Amino acid sequence: MRALIAYLSYSGNTEETAEYILEKLSSHGVMVDMHRIGIDSPVNPSHYDVMFLGTFTWEDGRTPDEVKEFVLEIGYKPDNIAIFGTGDTQFGYFCGAVDKLTTFYRSRWQGLKIEQSPRGSQEHLIDHWLKGVLQHEANIA
Ligand SMILES: Cc1cc2nc3c(=O)[nH]c(=O)nc-3n(C[C@H](O)[C@H](O)[C@H](O)COP(=O)(O)O)c2cc1C
Repeated sequence: MRALIAYLSYSGNTEETAEYILEKLSSHGVMVDMHRIGIDSPVNPSHYDVMFLGTFTWEDGRTPDEVKEFVLEIGYKPDNIAIFGTGDTQFGYFCGAVDKLTTFYRSRWQGLKIEQSPRGSQEHLIDHWLKGVLQHEANIA
């Protein structure tokens, strides 16, 4: 199985989540490419069995512009995108960008929402979510 993890992170929380997902996928024998949105050269979605798209949420639940540009760059709605993100419950709409992207792609997986850094008590949320994604992929492989 081949996976892409594309993410945008300013202060490191979403990057940490992406790296945790990378560790877990690699330990399951999945081949993973990392893509830093806005930095790395464009990706070819057709190369991947599953694509993970990670983002933080900005001002009242907004999706960052760089992520919107990435969505436009992909140019269509692949049916194998799993959305994850980090946010802060002190803001109005916690992880609003995760909900918006999950709806936009009609993702078959619920979006994963992490409060700030994933390290420590929230790692089990990622484990549980990943299990769901991988199970589905294994079933259709
Ligand atoms: C100006 C500003 C606005 C924010 N607005 C929201 C928001 O509406 N909803 C939310 O869940 N988090 C919001 N956050 C929190 C960030 O999404 C959160 O800190 C996230 O983990 C940052 O990701 P990063 O470390 O990968 O850059 C906001 C943070 C800042 C600085």
